[in-house]
Formats: sequence, structure tokens, C-alpha cells
Amino acid sequence: MSGPIILGLETSCDETAVGVVRDGVVLSNVLSSQVDEHARFGGIVPEVAARAHVEAIRSLTHRALRDAGIHQLDVAAVAATRGPGLAGALMVGFAYGKALAWALDKPFLGVDHMEGHLFAPTLDHAGFEPPAVVLLASGGHSQIVHARAWGDYETVGETIDDAAGEAFDKVARFLGLGFPGGPAIDRASEGGNPAAVEFPRALADRPTDLSFSGLKTAVVTYIRQHHAAGDLPPLADVAAAVQEAIVDVLVTKTMNAVAQTGVRTVAGGGGVLANRRLRQRLEEACAARNLALYLPAPVLCTDNGAMVAAAAAFRLEAGERTEWDAEVEVSLRLG
Ligand code: KG4
Ligand code: ZN
Repeated sequence: MSGPIILGLETSCDETAVGVVRDGVVLSNVLSSQVDEHARFGGIVPEVAARAHVEAIRSLTHRALRDAGIHQLDVAAVAATRGPGLAGALMVGFAYGKALAWALDKPFLGVDHMEGHLFAPTLDHAGFEPPAVVLLASGGHSQIVHARAWGDYETVGETIDDAAGEAFDKVARFLGLGFPGGPAIDRASEGGNPAAVEFPRALADRPTDLSFSGLKTAVVTYIRQHHAAGDLPPLADVAAAVQEAIVDVLVTKTMNAVAQTGVRTVAGGGGVLANRRLRQRLEEACAARNLALYLPAPVLCTDNGAMVAAAAAFRLEAGERTEWDAEVEVSLRLG
């Protein structure tokens, strides 16, 4: 191996994460989850997130370097998520990354978080390359991207209201399954019948756009009615049916984007792509159409530092640098 070693920092939301990547190989990838700190509030509290990042980032960076078996002077560039995300949370990783790069006299790169998710499949699959249709679904964003080439992205569809992960989180909270909701529903749905309830699939008339805000209301209405009538199905069935409604829409719209663009490669990134049913349904849909599918391992779907380093490696090679006076961008948009 001879390529540059990139250190990637991710602090856009509730995970402090640091990864070291060289030539598309993950040398280390560590994180300090704040889930327990936010769980008692039932969601992410921005101020709590920023403080937790401050407490964790230095020791976590040292752990990532140690796990990778390198010294900080071996690092060729430091990268950090620039946005989108929570302002205070982003600032911690961005400022720390700039300071570290400055001290090491190495380039600094601010990375778009969603481009990080888009690069995650490359870390598990050396063969993954655009052109591709990439489903990016997380707690804050859900979009279907036509990646024509690295750095050349067109959003062909996106949510007009809630993100897919947000839908999982809201429904799980209502069902008393805890936070974060995606993994909780994934687990609760085990053995459940996805056809037990037919929850709405919104925006059927728009081939690639998504909408999830009506789902929680539909679940609330359903549960209240059937609770009153005394014929509520088992929780596993409700969870499986909710999951199916979200997954169905994501898979259908992704396949519509494939038909629209004519590409033969599909990929995914973002926390929701860790969902087992979504992975299975994407595999089936792609196999039926003879499409290549590249999904990162679940730990690389959820927020991590390695994906930030992977995206930065491409930007570094293209000669890009982020100015020292650059600021975080809470509403950064891919492309
Ligand atoms: O990408 P990510 O880690 O952070 C953001 O950028 O938002 O995504 C977090 C989201 C949360 O909404 C979480 O509930 C969801 O991803 N998630 C899942 C699963 N694991 C995480 N959703 C469904 N099934 C899962 N197994
Ligand atoms: Zn994310």
C-alpha cells in the first residue's frame, strides 16, 4: 500500500466517530455513541451532543491512530464533516480537524456528510464505481442520487417531509420501542407478519420522491382504533408492517430511479441501509433485474469516520483543499 493515509472525523449528529483509511482500506474505525445520553430524552438534544463530542474527540482520535498502528505524523490529510448536521456538533469535529491539520502542517478537507455515506460502499467493495443510483437514507436525510461520476451527483428524488430514519424513530417512540427507532423496529419485527397491516405508501404518483410524515399518524390512528376494539395484532406484526411500508417505498422508488436513468449499478448508504429487511428487498429487486448491488456492512451504513476519510481521499486526489477560515454548513446539499 502506498496511497495517502487519511484521518476522518465525523461529529454531525450523535456519534463521535474517527476513522483511518488508506487506498480504500479501513485501517481503523472507532466511535463513541451518545445513544444512552439522548435515550432518556427520547431524541437527540443538540447541546448534549456538542458537549459529548468535545469530551470524546481527542481520546477517540488517539485510539483510531493506535488501532491503525500509525503515528499522527503518518497522516497525509485530516478530514472532518462540514455539514449537513447540528451546528454545535459539526463545529467540534470541524474545529478539531482544522487545528490538528494545522499543527501537523497537512491539508484539511471539509466533507459533505452525504458524500461520506455515498463513499461508504467503496470501503467494502473495491469494485463499486459510478455511474450508479445510490439510495441515501438516514435520520436527517433521504434521497435517491444519480452519481454520474465521483463528485458529479444529481438528486433524482428526495423526501418532501420526514427522512426514512426519522419515520422509524417517530413510530418506534410511539410504540414504546425506544431510541434509536430503526434498530428497535428491525429487532421487534422479527417473526412478525409484514402483511398484517397495510400502512399507506405515500406519493405513489411521483416515481422517485418520498414522503413519510403521514406514516406515524396512520400508525397512531390504527393502534388507537384497534386498541379500543380489543383486536390489536401482536407488536411484531405492527413493527413488521411499519418496516415493510418504509422499505417498500424505498425499494420501489430506487428501482424507478434505475429505470429512469438506465444505470446498471445500485448502492446505498446511511443508517437506514443497516435495516435487514431493506437489504434483503434491495438484493431481491436487483437480482431480478440483473443489477449490481453494493451495500456497505451495517457498521459502515451508520455514521462513521472511515466514510468521511474515503470521500476526502477522492477530494484530496482531485487537488482540493478546504480553506482554514471555512465554516461548517448546517444545510449543505449534495451536488
Ligand atoms: O446515518 P445515520 O447513522 O445518522 C444520520 O446521518 O442521521 O442514520 C441514523 C438513522 C436513525 O434514524 C436510525 O433509526 C436509523 O438510521 N437506523 C435504522 C437502522 N439502524 C439505524 N433504521 C432502520 N433499521 C436499522 N437497522
Ligand atoms: Zn449519516
